[in-house]
Amino acid sequence: MKPTEIKPDIYWVGAIDWAVRDFHGYVTPKGTTYNNYLVMDEEVTLVDTVKYDFAARTLKNIANIVDPAQIKNVVINHVENDHASSLDRVMALAPDARIFITERGLQVIERFFDTSSWNITTVKTGDEVKTGKYTLRFLETPMLHWPDSMMTYVPEAKLLISQDAFGQHLATSTRFDDEFSRCASHAELEEAVVDYYANILMPFGRLIKAKLREIEELGLEIDMIAPDHGIIWRAEPQRVMQMYAGMAAGAADLSVAIIYDTMWHSTEVMTQPIMEGVKDAGVDVKVIKLRDTPMSVAIT
Ligand SMILES: [Fe+2]
Ligand SMILES: [Fe+2]
Repeated sequence: MKPTEIKPDIYWVGAIDWAVRDFHGYVTPKGTTYNNYLVMDEEVTLVDTVKYDFAARTLKNIANIVDPAQIKNVVINHVENDHASSLDRVMALAPDARIFITERGLQVIERFFDTSSWNITTVKTGDEVKTGKYTLRFLETPMLHWPDSMMTYVPEAKLLISQDAFGQHLATSTRFDDEFSRCASHAELEEAVVDYYANILMPFGRLIKAKLREIEELGLEIDMIAPDHGIIWRAEPQRVMQMYAGMAAGAADLSVAIIYDTMWHSTEVMTQPIMEGVKDAGVDVKVIKLRDTPMSVAIT
């Protein structure tokens, strides 16, 4: 997949993982993408890397635009392996690049890599890096979903690079929400948002509510949200934020899931009158046998 310009001189340079079906225990029947972004400014800047297995692809995408040795800054929004594990491959080509990362992120990459020769700056919410015409402003999002997590906001482009938040596990040749909705369906996209939220972010609803409030109070103008998985929200960035606000508040359609397991089917027999009772009350109901259902499906 070639790079895609998402804003003037800002490119998606990530990789599509069509084949992954088990994402650390989370079933991903539709694969995923590892998104990272190249800011082609006076100081060439890479925001995030990709999963190690896909390092060659992102480096090839970058090389399509610029010699990777020209990279001056690398922002690491999140140190989990699907985003930071090819950092050493990038640094081998751009050894003088400055790395921007949270304090907690630094503690982790020091365990993964020999960082002794790397030029690393730790950043907090509100810190900025000027790359030329663009500014990268950092917003820490601790426990969304790891202690180190942060986002990078580009005010001149009204672009929020949101790291894992607002992502979806969808491998797709389309890069934007409006393209995906045309080729597949809008419902499929929203289902992927719910599935991802349920499995990655659901325990952190209170923190998400507070973070959405903080984004509002900071008055960040956002007309594009570029997450590190799945499609980029170009047409409806506000819609996905509304969806998160609703899910964080526990809003849901009225429905019941009866999740059970059974040795000799006795418990299974019990599920049927319960299911009938719920159905008779006019409520949608699903019966899920846990041992025959992937955990991530039951969680959703
Ligand atoms: Fe993550
Ligand atoms: Fe991720």
